[in-house]
Amino acid sequence: MRGKNRMKRVTLGILVSGRGSNLQAIIDNIEKGSLSAEIGVVISDQADAFSLERARKHDIPAVHISAKGYRGRRDEYDAHLVEELRRRGADLVILAGFMRIITPTLIKAFPNRIMNIHPALLPSFPGLHVQKAAIEHGSRFSGCTVHFVDEGMDTGPIIIQAVVPVLDNDTEDALSARILAQEHKIFSRAIQLYAEGRLTVKGRRVFVANPEDKGGEFLINP
Ligand code: GRF
Repeated sequence: MRGKNRMKRVTLGILVSGRGSNLQAIIDNIEKGSLSAEIGVVISDQADAFSLERARKHDIPAVHISAKGYRGRRDEYDAHLVEELRRRGADLVILAGFMRIITPTLIKAFPNRIMNIHPALLPSFPGLHVQKAAIEHGSRFSGCTVHFVDEGMDTGPIIIQAVVPVLDNDTEDALSARILAQEHKIFSRAIQLYAEGRLTVKGRRVFVANPEDKGGEFLINP
C-alpha cells in the first residue's frame, strides 16, 4: 500500500488570470514525463484568459469563476474556489499568474499546499511591476521565486529561486523575458519536489530531503 501511495500523482488545481505561459510550461513538463503530476482543473477569474484556451487544448478541465459581484467579499469568492478545487481533487494549488489577493479562506483550506511564482528575488520587490522596479533601483541581479503562500503579500516560505542578471541596457520587457524563461523551469521543479514528498516547512524555511544532492545547490538556478 505504501508503495502504491508513493506512486500516486499529485493533482494540481491551477489558478490563472492571463496568458498562462507558466501553465503551458507545467503542461509541457507533465506531457514530457519530467513532472509527476496531473492537472485536475484550471480556474480563471477572467473569462477571456488565454490560459483557459491552453488548458482546453490539452483536454484539461478549464473553468471561469467570475469575481464580479464579490466586491468586498473576497472570502466568499475564495470559498467558491475551494469548493471547485476540492471537487476536482486538487492536492496542491498553483498560482500561475493569478491576479487576485487570496484570503485566509483559501489559505486555511490548503495549508502549505499553495505555491506562487513571483518575478523577483523575494523578499526584494514584492507586489507588481517588479522587473521595472529592479531596473530602476539599479539592482545588479533579479530573478524569480517559487514560494508557499501564507497570509502576507509574497511573504511565504521560499522553495526555489533563480538569479538573473540585470544588464545596463535592460528594458522591462527584456528583463521580464529572461526572468520568465527561469520561471518556466523552477515552477515545475518545485512542484516535482512536492510530488516526491521532499519538502518540509519549518517556520519560514523550507527544507528539501535531498541526500543525493550536495548542499542543496540545485535549488538555485536549477
Ligand atoms: C509571471 O511573471 C509570474 O511571475 C507572475 O505573473 C506572470 C504570469 O505569467 N506571478 P504567465 O501568465 O504565466 O505567462
